[in-house]
Amino acid sequence: MNAPLSNSALVDKDQAHMIHPLHHNPAHVNAKVWVKAEGSHLIDADGNRYIDGLSCLWNVSCGHGRQPLIDAASRQMQQMAFCSSYNGSSNPPAIELAERLADICYPQINNFYFTSGGGESTDSNFKLARYYWKAKGKPDKIKVISRIWGYHGVTFAAMCATGIAGYWPSFEPRIPGFSHIPAPDPYHYPMPEDGSSQGIAAANELEREILKQGPETVAMFIAEPVIGAGGVIVPPADYFPRIREICDRYEVLLVADEVITGFGRTGKMFALEHFGVQPDLVQFAKSITSGYLPLGGIGISDEIAAVVRASDKPWMHAYTYSGHPTTCAVGLATLDYIESENLVARAADKGAYLLEKLQRELADHPHDGDVRGLGMMCGVELVEDKAGKSWYSPEWGVGPKMSKALIDNGIFTRMRSEVVCIAPPLTTDQATLDELVAGIRNAIATVFGE
Ligand SMILES: Cc1ncc(COP(=O)(O)O)c(C=O)c1O
Repeated sequence: MNAPLSNSALVDKDQAHMIHPLHHNPAHVNAKVWVKAEGSHLIDADGNRYIDGLSCLWNVSCGHGRQPLIDAASRQMQQMAFCSSYNGSSNPPAIELAERLADICYPQINNFYFTSGGGESTDSNFKLARYYWKAKGKPDKIKVISRIWGYHGVTFAAMCATGIAGYWPSFEPRIPGFSHIPAPDPYHYPMPEDGSSQGIAAANELEREILKQGPETVAMFIAEPVIGAGGVIVPPADYFPRIREICDRYEVLLVADEVITGFGRTGKMFALEHFGVQPDLVQFAKSITSGYLPLGGIGISDEIAAVVRASDKPWMHAYTYSGHPTTCAVGLATLDYIESENLVARAADKGAYLLEKLQRELADHPHDGDVRGLGMMCGVELVEDKAGKSWYSPEWGVGPKMSKALIDNGIFTRMRSEVVCIAPPLTTDQATLDELVAGIRNAIATVFGE
């Protein structure tokens, strides 16, 4: 038998044929090739072990190697790996998963359309919002408002709602009808001079934008309850209640993008629960299968679903893998695992521990601007000047320097340029969380000095 190839030999072979998500050849020469994963750890082709600081891509919430999820896929594949869900065809795992989701999702969300991931879910919601308003006799309501720093995927349409500008330039022009308002970022959002709160002022940006666009043209507002890939931005408590009021006043659908926050990540099953608000549409992916197989979907309010069901026009929207029996079987096993391991409550407790420890260990560092989080998602924002909250210039390269220093300290995660994003599996034990914080502290000391 041939000896296994080293990490660098595999990277060479990879570079001969693979084009990657976010491909940029010069930056990939030291990339990792992963060969094994256990619990909260990833192991590369050279046998090095790293803490999986982001649950891979915020998705492996149950941790790696969970036998019940593996068994569920295997059992369903033996029974029937795939069948179509087109035109009303169905299968027991998909039916049961929709039923289970209706139990655990917001009270007014009881109907589900399945996709294979987040971006497809975003597109499905754009199309459903348009379909709904046309059916209601308001065909001009087509526009989408989202937030700067929001991430909703990068299919062509989803990219237009995504508010991280680096995703746009190579693909301009974007589709007309998409606009962005500032994020409700308590660290950077200016304190209002009229005595109102940051949350209300940031929410009022939506009202201004709806009025600017014309309320009769705006279909939906899409927002992550806690911004994830855009740097873990937790809104003030009064932000979403005010957003709900504005959406109701101008007949704009509120779409919660819970692709990261869904299924316990923030310490609630779905994250708008923190703010006492229900969306009209929700979208999910990632942790629904803990990343073991690609599955996503949208949850639809009773009111919107009733319009779809009563319409004489078919909803001409479809994906081959919508309602895939094997991914749905793994979705069911994941929900069982989340419940039996009490992962939602554990995310709240462990997340509080992680945030407090990060804040305590990093607060005195001159370049630690802000440490924030909710449940098991935290962000550490690194700044050049703590008083002025200003960032290093992009050429200085906080992101690449920190990524390397984190790897050297046994941690694999992603940066939003100047923000270290942290979201380990919800099952991560306290000793590993302690190691994670110590590693981040050491990495910051390596890059910026003590
Ligand atoms: C909030 C959110 N929405 C949508 C997406 C897009 O999901 P996908 O990469 O599965 O298309 C992501 C991916 O990270 C996400 O974080």
